[in-house]
Amino acid sequence: MLTKVADLPDRSVRYLEAGEGQPLVLIHGFPFNAEMWLPQLYRPAPGWRFIAPDLRGFRGTGPAFEDVGLESVTIDSYAADVLTFMSHVDADNAVVCGLSMGGYVALSLVQQAPHRVRGLVLANTRAAADSAEGRAGRDRMLELVAREGAAGVATAMLPKLLGESTRRDQPDLEDAVRGLIEPNSPHGVAAGIRAIRDRPDRVHSLPSIHCRTLIICGDEDAIIPRTESEAMKAAIPGAELVVLHNIGHLSNLENPIAFNRALGQWLK
Ligand code: MLT
Repeated sequence: MLTKVADLPDRSVRYLEAGEGQPLVLIHGFPFNAEMWLPQLYRPAPGWRFIAPDLRGFRGTGPAFEDVGLESVTIDSYAADVLTFMSHVDADNAVVCGLSMGGYVALSLVQQAPHRVRGLVLANTRAAADSAEGRAGRDRMLELVAREGAAGVATAMLPKLLGESTRRDQPDLEDAVRGLIEPNSPHGVAAGIRAIRDRPDRVHSLPSIHCRTLIICGDEDAIIPRTESEAMKAAIPGAELVVLHNIGHLSNLENPIAFNRALGQWLK
């Protein structure tokens, strides 16, 4: 696996890349960065080139670039960023896989540029917008990140990010997840919260998705209930759904073997 830098017109972006062949772009969830895909990048599916960029404002433990344009970030602008990135890394047309917030971005991306998406993987995500209650929760999260930074957000989110079985059987994973969240800047995290809070509802756009689509969910996901995934499967023509058992919101990290198997079989 290689750590690389793409010098885009308005900023530089760190990305991780592994494997050779057809491109698959991995879009991370909130409040993470490309490193959340390490268990997939260590084992790219044969014949595939896995490429994972940091979304604008998010960063891992590698080189940190100046954050630009955070005040106007939206889910649609993250998707536009990914499209620009894809052209830059010779992946104009790719399979796009997003987890949670990455799925919100993937749904925007396929709406903006359907001809550039060969296939879609929607993991632990939903098409619906936030409810009024959800939006109020985002506002509280904005206050928290202003007060306590990414570490405070990690503490608040961790109990919901990992499934009950994972917390019981893999207690060390909590620290690893915290380690993925904490390098992020408060400004990048705040921009992400605003983007998620204000994202449009995309339920009505689902029937117009015409690429092959795989939906993955965990049956212990406390953030996105399985019913949301079932609703997306029903709405997207021909979509397949894989339910991972004893798994929470971070399915690719909680059970990489099961996640990679589901992804690998579908990519075949
Ligand atoms: C994520 O994992 O990206 C977030 O939990 C998404 C959300 O809070 O809506």
